[in-house]
Amino acid sequence: MDVEALQREALAAVAAASSVDEIDVVRVDYLGRKSALKLALREVRDRETGIALNAARVTIEQAVESRTAELERAELDRRLTGEQVDVTLPVDAYRRGRLHLITQIRREVEDVFLGLGYRVVDGREVETTRYNFDGLNFPAGHPARSPLHSLFLDEQRVLRTETSPSQVRTMEAEQPPIYMVSLGRVYRRDTPDATHSPIFHQVEGLAVDEGITLGDLTGTLDFLLRALFGADRGTEFRTHYFPFTEPSIEAYVSCHVCDGAGCTVCRHSGWIEVGGAGMVDPAVFEFVGYDPERYTGFAFGWGLERIAMLRHEFPDLRELWRNDLRFTRQF
Ligand code: DAH
Repeated sequence: MDVEALQREALAAVAAASSVDEIDVVRVDYLGRKSALKLALREVRDRETGIALNAARVTIEQAVESRTAELERAELDRRLTGEQVDVTLPVDAYRRGRLHLITQIRREVEDVFLGLGYRVVDGREVETTRYNFDGLNFPAGHPARSPLHSLFLDEQRVLRTETSPSQVRTMEAEQPPIYMVSLGRVYRRDTPDATHSPIFHQVEGLAVDEGITLGDLTGTLDFLLRALFGADRGTEFRTHYFPFTEPSIEAYVSCHVCDGAGCTVCRHSGWIEVGGAGMVDPAVFEFVGYDPERYTGFAFGWGLERIAMLRHEFPDLRELWRNDLRFTRQF
């Protein structure tokens, strides 16, 4: 075998290889187990031929090794330049989604009450007249029982007109102490305008225990009002009427426009109404089988759209559901 010719041919092939894959083929061809060189080495009989073959093997191995390193470096360089990113180039702004304002307020209210040790319970949107009216002490003939005011599915079933039925269901299922809030959609047969919508949201609250007083109620609502509207807002409570509370009150915050001095927004009273509340009527306790001599409690029910309008000062609640991003993105 012509060792010199073989070595020349191998070195030429090494020099001609232009990629890591190609040099790998060359290595197998000239140094692999079935290469001419390796077969010859296995059959060598005399010393001179052995020395010559081994010298050629070492030369070819070194050539392959250094060419491989060279090609690997070149390929890495090519990738580094090719995949380079100019981090200073301007990019298209990525618009992040966000929660709807009503969802944000809903979670804020839940957080306030979870922090006070209350539970959040789910109510039902399809209610029976038993929970929506009877258990809440609505007398027969009350206008809310009329299909002119409420959306009935049949004689017994109605889309809940308020979140208050969740109070009755919770009390019927459990014994005091109860500290719970329940938030969700309610339905009324109202024509939409700036301050009315046939579907809106309420937060219901209920606390029942021994020795609960009106002071506990106003203290709790005061805390909620300040959490929602800011520590600097004044709060006030006035007497009112609801069938399921006695006494009943309505909560007010100081007007955000005139700060209590009187303006057109607050109709020159300095105060804006936020929602109803009261001490649970003994008739409600009797309906669920609680002893009204032993337990007292308070409840409240506020509209979330109303809270949103008062806090963010927009005049028409229909904006909330028009889904115009120019409006919803503000919050
Ligand atoms: N359910 C009443 C409404 O929709 C709001 C309300 C007032 C709820 C007083 C209460 C309450 O729990 O105690 O107008």
